[in-house]
Amino acid sequence: MQPVRKAVLPVAGLGTRFLPATKVMPKEMLTVVDKPVLQYVVDEAREAGIEQFIFVIGRGKQVIEDHFDISFELESMLAERGKTKPLEELRAQLPEAGNVSFTRQQSPLGLGHAVWCARELVGNEPFALLLPDVIIKNKRGVMAQMMDVYNEHGSNVIAVEEVAPERTDQYGVVEINGSGDVFDVTGMVEKPKAGTAPSNLIITGRYILKPRIFDLLANTEKGAGGEIQVTDAMLTLMKEDGFKGLKFQGTTYDCGSKIGFLAANLAFGLDRPDLAPELTEIAKGLMG
Ligand code: UTP
Repeated sequence: MQPVRKAVLPVAGLGTRFLPATKVMPKEMLTVVDKPVLQYVVDEAREAGIEQFIFVIGRGKQVIEDHFDISFELESMLAERGKTKPLEELRAQLPEAGNVSFTRQQSPLGLGHAVWCARELVGNEPFALLLPDVIIKNKRGVMAQMMDVYNEHGSNVIAVEEVAPERTDQYGVVEINGSGDVFDVTGMVEKPKAGTAPSNLIITGRYILKPRIFDLLANTEKGAGGEIQVTDAMLTLMKEDGFKGLKFQGTTYDCGSKIGFLAANLAFGLDRPDLAPELTEIAKGLMG
């Protein structure tokens, strides 16, 4: 079985749900407490053993490249002023030299197209795909949980979670065979009409995919919203090769939406011993 060494992080979307914040600032760089959303996702991938990070960027996203580079002036100033703790933290968060690559998606034609743009950098091996505007809070990251499933079954893996049945029409929904936390996925449907969803398990922005997906994406027609959808290609991959679903441990925050982003700041803030007491008092005061 080939190991999963590479992660693809598509960050070329327009982030229209978060305007005007995203007019010049990529939504993946908005901060939850004191870290960009994207950094949480890179940390999750690193914890899972990922060695190579492939970012699919678009116009106006150069700040992402700078974030994953050494800031020479900042570091020398911190060193000069004896601020060793923030300096160590900055260095610890940086992937090793040569382990970060960037490619461009010239037009935002959808997630499927963004993934396809990474084909040459991934090559002929399985890879992790993480949507960088979704952070999932758990002691052990979701990608590490998914690696366990991949290492046991050698299959494509998709992370799923339960939602209230009346909300399934907003998401990609899976049909499954089996019970427990790991099962076979037998169908996938993007935003099913109310009352037609095959389950209340939704796809949550974390995948382990075999490289065959690139051929399938190349032949995928535009789907919902005029964009090339990754779900359509995954459906064919599922029929050819199978897919395991993992009902993971963790709480999801969709930081591409305003409400998810606010909830993430509250949840991660309340988790920080240096901030929680004061934040709790402020929240209580605001709630009356
Ligand atoms: P979203 O579905 O949240 O799309 O993308 P979006 O266009 O960024 O945001 P809205 O809906 O307009 O607010 C999920 C992830 O896929 C990337 C995004 O950057 C985001 O991290 N993406 C999306 C691309 O890289 N390219 C695309 O063409 C679309």
